[in-house]
Amino acid sequence: MMKVYTDVFRICGNKLLRSHKILTIFILLCIIIVLLLIIIVQLYQCDCIFDNVEEVQSESLVETKGNHVLCLIIPFRDRFDELLVFLTHMKVFLDNQSVEYQVYVVNQVDSYRFNRGSLINVGFRHVSSHSSCDFIAMHDVDLIPLNPKLNYSYPGDSIMHIAAPHLHPKYHYKTFLGGILMMKNAHFQLVNGLSNKYWGWGLEDDELYVRIKEARIRIDRPPDNVGTGISDTFRHIHDKTRRRRDMTKCFNQKEVTRKRDRETGLHDVQYTLSSSYVLNVNESLAVILNVGLKCNQTVTPWCLCRVGGGGGKQVLPVPRVGNPSG
Ligand SMILES: *[C@@H]1O[C@H](CO)[C@@H](O)[C@H](O)[C@H]1NC(C)=O
Ligand SMILES: *[C@@H]1O[C@H](CO)[C@@H](O)[C@H](O)[C@H]1NC(C)=O
Ligand SMILES: *[C@@H]1O[C@H](CO)[C@@H](O)[C@H](O)[C@H]1NC(C)=O
Ligand SMILES: *[C@@H]1O[C@H](CO)[C@@H](O)[C@H](O)[C@H]1NC(C)=O
Repeated sequence: MMKVYTDVFRICGNKLLRSHKILTIFILLCIIIVLLLIIIVQLYQCDCIFDNVEEVQSESLVETKGNHVLCLIIPFRDRFDELLVFLTHMKVFLDNQSVEYQVYVVNQVDSYRFNRGSLINVGFRHVSSHSSCDFIAMHDVDLIPLNPKLNYSYPGDSIMHIAAPHLHPKYHYKTFLGGILMMKNAHFQLVNGLSNKYWGWGLEDDELYVRIKEARIRIDRPPDNVGTGISDTFRHIHDKTRRRRDMTKCFNQKEVTRKRDRETGLHDVQYTLSSSYVLNVNESLAVILNVGLKCNQTVTPWCLCRVGGGGGKQVLPVPRVGNPSG
């Protein structure tokens, strides 16, 4: 009996010893794997921490810089003399306010009538993909701000109409929104920019007013106490005879352009950018965009009218009858 027991013991003991060995190897393997895992996890955590540090650093860089960048969008055609004055003046004026800005001159090179709204839409499209601007000023090239209290800094949640009716040399009606209008990019997108239906001079800014009212965005204007009035807040470089305004109305332009346009705007402006340049006028830089607008003459046949006519008859393209508003 006893022998049987010891035999059983021996056999079991051997088995135990053997399984011990396996167990030891298994445990060792486990320890190695765990150690490897710990090393990997730690390396990974190091990466994470590094990433976080970088993120925090770049965030705080943006915060401490905290600066907004303004893009001046200048709808343009045939105003070289004005542009020289504008560029040299704006550099001094805006540097003095420490406003960070870039200038984009959107030069209409097609033969259609001048279309201020479409040119601003094109300018906006360009700057939203080619610049770091987060707010814009659509700016007439012939309206030069003289009063340093006219504030070109980021307007936040409201739209800033700098060329206010009580300051503009020529236009004083309450809903006037032309000349110089500043807003953050998000607001321009929200109202779908300006209508593309306004070929020839005027009214596109009145239509924009309705868009902004409908979107319930507040319009701010410089305060009454800027110390200047309609004669000395701006210099208006405008020669009525040399720069004739294209006031012609042809086809059904008059009826259509009196209505709010719910169809066209920033999203559907049709154009080609034929070339671009960087212009340096006494160290004041501007990007010139040569833009050919496209006109669907079924929709807006008045993109070409007879000069001085308005009889509604379409004639061959008449070059350069356009006129930037101002
Ligand atoms: C610069 O800004 C100050 C303060 O607003 C003003 O007094 C001064 O006239 C400005 N200078 C120019 C060149 O605009
Ligand atoms: C414009 O407004 C901003 C913000 O209110 C202010 O910090 C800045 O000094 C103002 N600039 C001028 C020229 O008044
Ligand atoms: C532009 O630079 C030229 C050459 O330095 C200078 O004579 C001229 O007065 C400057 N023009 C303006 C408007 O600052
Ligand atoms: C012009 O507009 C009309 C009416 O919306 C449309 O049917 C036509 O396809 C357009 N033409 C071009 C060239 O886009």
